[in-house]
Amino acid sequence: MPDTDLLYRQPDRNLALELVRATEAAAIRAVPFIGRGDKNGADGAAVDAMRSFLATVDFAGVVVIGEGEKDAAPMLFNGEQVGTGRGPACDIAVDPIDGTSLTASGRRNAISMIAAADRGSMLDASSVFYMDKLVAGPEAVGLLDIRRPIGENVRLLAEAKGKPVAEMQVGVLDRPRHEGLIEAIRAAGAGTRLMLDGDVAGGIDAASHDGALDLCVGIGGSPEGVATACAIRALGGFIQTVLAPRDDEERQRGLDAGLRFDHVYDAEQLVTSDNTFFVATGITDGNLVAGVRRDGPVIRTESIVLRSRSGTIRRVTADHLVQKWLES
Ligand code: FBP
Repeated sequence: MPDTDLLYRQPDRNLALELVRATEAAAIRAVPFIGRGDKNGADGAAVDAMRSFLATVDFAGVVVIGEGEKDAAPMLFNGEQVGTGRGPACDIAVDPIDGTSLTASGRRNAISMIAAADRGSMLDASSVFYMDKLVAGPEAVGLLDIRRPIGENVRLLAEAKGKPVAEMQVGVLDRPRHEGLIEAIRAAGAGTRLMLDGDVAGGIDAASHDGALDLCVGIGGSPEGVATACAIRALGGFIQTVLAPRDDEERQRGLDAGLRFDHVYDAEQLVTSDNTFFVATGITDGNLVAGVRRDGPVIRTESIVLRSRSGTIRRVTADHLVQKWLES
């Protein structure tokens, strides 16, 4: 009997279904900070909530990709051990809030996310803050190449998807460093969807068969790149990245850590395990998931829960009793 049948006769545990409690908690605790202009307050509340929920999950997690160097924000730090210590040994990548500025200013698309994979399988790119990314759906596999001009990649993907270039939508972080990239996308005839923040959600949207984006490109955080790769391995999409050091010092730190700058890292190199999990809960409303909503006595959260081994993509809506959250 093939392995897939075995999987369904003896289903193993989906860790992500437990990790989602931690992203739900982080999202709920971030809510009082939406639109209050306090990035660090929001991040601190989300970090604390995520940490205490992670402590209850039966696994031996090590934070390989923490977040927070930027603006000296609060963080789950790299090397921190999380979970009860019983159960599978995992690397985890966390971003209690991807989109702290979005949250603080009350804008769309802020999420809380965790990615997990077998221990030792996530690329530790923490010494280099940024990477250049090209993310798309499964049609792009074996076709696109981040080293090619963006216009060519857009045309090739449009052909593979069977749609005119004029209907292609490309997500790019709205940053001065992307001026040339944005011009080149538009010159190729495609549309840009400029994102204020949040290229994890953008990447997942581009890789999803029903997403609003066809491609998500440009320079964003390295931690976010590795986390996106965990999701892409579950969705079956495409990601290529090239490290983008800010200066010689950072380049040297990367070289010392064994990273390569002349190399294209694909999904399998960003996360070598084929056993990956990814969960994200909406904080504010977004294309990927709805934000946290109060509805009378309940707080409603929406999350996506992805698992590579089974290829399952779940949308989890949960109603949490307001009273319980006021008490805790
Ligand atoms: P945080 O909210 O965690 O700070 O990250 C938001 C984000 O937009 C990421 O999604 C993206 O990868 C990165 O910041 C881009 O960095 P920068 O804001 O420095 O351009």
